[in-house]
Amino acid sequence: GKPIIPYEEIGAERLSQLIDAFYARVAKHPKLQPIFPEDLTETARKQKQFMTQYLGGPNIYSEEHGHPRLRARHHPFPITPDRAQAWLECMSEAMDEVGLEGKFREVFFQRLVLTAHHMVNEQDSEE
Ligand code: HEM
Repeated sequence: GKPIIPYEEIGAERLSQLIDAFYARVAKHPKLQPIFPEDLTETARKQKQFMTQYLGGPNIYSEEHGHPRLRARHHPFPITPDRAQAWLECMSEAMDEVGLEGKFREVFFQRLVLTAHHMVNEQDSEE
């Protein structure tokens, strides 16, 4: 039958490809690049750990870093609605690149929309 755990449905390898495709876009995005470190190796490693548990896989992020407290961990960075939109666009394009489709993609992406909006901690500037 169909796997019930989203992590098993996407698989570790596809998830890793997705995150790499995502950060390749973040690194070039004019609205995101300024707030991210230049070297995204460690960021991508942590995101792979986080997404593994977010999708119901083993809790490898928490084992190494403790409770995610995602909103608090994003506090040092100005996350505007514009940046949340940019983050989601990079993710959507990364999903296209690795060929995520159908119900799985739809449900996964909608969850990310909610989480991304939850990270917003500053309004867009008028400049
Ligand atoms: C870390 C930006 C949304 C998960 C970070 C970092 C930045 C950032 C600048 C720090 C990178 C570093 O220093 O290594 C943003 C922006 C978002 C966003 C602009 C737009 C809404 C999300 C979402 C998720 C997420 C939706 C999860 C679904 C993470 C994780 C880390 C992280 C797991 C690593 C935390 C750690 O240091 O342990 N993010 N993020 N972020 N972000 Fe986001």
